[in-house]
Amino acid sequence: MAIAKRNFDVVVVGAGGSGMRAALQLAQAGLKVAVLSKVFPTRSHTVAAQGGIAASLGNVNEDNWLWHMYDTVKGSDYLGDQDAIEFMCRAAPEVVYELEHFGMPFDRLDSGKIYQRPFGGHMQDYGKAPVQRACAAADRTGHALLHTLYQQNVKANTHFFVEWMALDLIRNEDGDVLGVTAMEIETGETMIFHARATLFATGGAGRIFQSSTNAYINTGDGLGMAARAGIPLEDMEFYQFHPTGVYGAGVLITEGVRGEGGYLLNKDGERFMPRYAPTAKDLASRDVVSRAMATEIKEGRGCGPKGDHVLLKLDHLGDDVIRQRLPGIREIAIKFAHVNPAEKPIPVVPTAHYMMGGIPTNYHGQVVAPYKTGPNEIVHGFYAVGECACVSVHGANRLGCNSLLDLVVFGRAAGKQIIEDLHGNPHPKPLPADAADLALSRLARLESQKNGERVSEVGDAMRHTMQKHCGVFRFPDLLSAGVAEIKQVAERVMHTEIKDKSKVFNTARIEALELDNLIEVAQATMISAEARKESRGAHARDDFPERDDVNWLKHSLYFREGSRLDYKPVRLKPLTVESFPLKPRVY
Ligand code: FUM
Repeated sequence: MAIAKRNFDVVVVGAGGSGMRAALQLAQAGLKVAVLSKVFPTRSHTVAAQGGIAASLGNVNEDNWLWHMYDTVKGSDYLGDQDAIEFMCRAAPEVVYELEHFGMPFDRLDSGKIYQRPFGGHMQDYGKAPVQRACAAADRTGHALLHTLYQQNVKANTHFFVEWMALDLIRNEDGDVLGVTAMEIETGETMIFHARATLFATGGAGRIFQSSTNAYINTGDGLGMAARAGIPLEDMEFYQFHPTGVYGAGVLITEGVRGEGGYLLNKDGERFMPRYAPTAKDLASRDVVSRAMATEIKEGRGCGPKGDHVLLKLDHLGDDVIRQRLPGIREIAIKFAHVNPAEKPIPVVPTAHYMMGGIPTNYHGQVVAPYKTGPNEIVHGFYAVGECACVSVHGANRLGCNSLLDLVVFGRAAGKQIIEDLHGNPHPKPLPADAADLALSRLARLESQKNGERVSEVGDAMRHTMQKHCGVFRFPDLLSAGVAEIKQVAERVMHTEIKDKSKVFNTARIEALELDNLIEVAQATMISAEARKESRGAHARDDFPERDDVNWLKHSLYFREGSRLDYKPVRLKPLTVESFPLKPRVY
């Protein structure tokens, strides 16, 4: 089948914070940049980030990038790569000031400086006391960031392809990446985007779970495409559950609520977090708070008729503070929990929120995978940033507000790296004759399937399996049964049928293509989790409750082919400072 083709210097897949930060760098350098997005750019999931972006500006109390680095290493449960963590924490103040100069409307202190609030795991002086490090635009920081970057990209002449879905990566026989195949959602038209550099910024995959803070668009598209193209996925067992999703709805209630002074209560009205984290209390890191909540519920101290959630109290902050600092939360609580938080606590439960794993990269955004000369080489022409990438700065557990930071630090770094790499490679490599075959065969499978199951039914089975078998606490029998079950679901995915074949907006077709990606992420997550026999960060096993640095201080690499796992060492050596030594993690 003939397929149209367009040429660009760089194709960026995804228009969230990291994709747009990279695109801006590239377009400002005069490169011809295409950004593909399933939704209008300002509706990308970054828009949902609420509480802030971490940077040691020290606007409210003394702070230091080394303390930020220490908190991030500790937050990662020592699985984060310390070179990348140094790179990110050092760059944080600079990228935040850059955003300010792009016009991002941060809240202000009376001094006129950027407002900063406390957040989970953000501490002064190597863990001694909480610090105000989260730079915030009320509780809509991601919204402010995304609009700022979109406006700057429009000014820089970035080419946006809105409501286009990337289908598959194009690699030549050497393994070089030469672009993507993609589909326009409205018309079903397919096209090859041939590029000298391809950057994935496709975000997370929270939709592998039943209850998630993630948007419906978060279907792990970049990971699915990478896995099908033979790229391994790193540290997929580590999926973060945010402590405060609205009970029954999953919508995020920012940790900024606790940063502003809110706290959690069990059914006895007890503020229980001090029992689990005597120093940081409700502002311990997310894995610690989520486990504490799950334990309260499990031990019979949950709230409501089913005893299956806890309460987030913030009425004592007063209506004025809530309206000024947390206006979005007020709205969410009223709409989704039917409570006015100035009067009543919000029912909350830990909810799937963030994928720490992803496509393996270095801190320049270059994808590192088996390639011409070895198992961990830079793959020519391929870059990944943001949640779809594993740099790894978040290790086994991400600190709040380090996600927006990750987006802009590594988006900018990848932009710079691509500019440098393209200097030496002025001509695009030729496309192989079978460039579009992988994508076209997937489309053909969907068109020809008869008497198959509905995409929604199989998707529900996947989400149910993930939620039941791979949650906040993980049990050996559930994990091994989960592996068998998710493989069966994967078989069913191959036989789904698009019941509504009309091409009106292509919704059914797009959901089927998204399920192809979700199932890759779900399998990688379950299989990697079953294999890791220790507890670290967000991966809490009932049968191996302790961290095991002797056997498990290593990154996992999941290969789709044969569902194989391999491991590689953690980079414990920072760029310029001393390593932070391994310690027990207490808050
Ligand atoms: O709680 C929040 O506002 C979420 C922030 C984050 O995930 O970094």
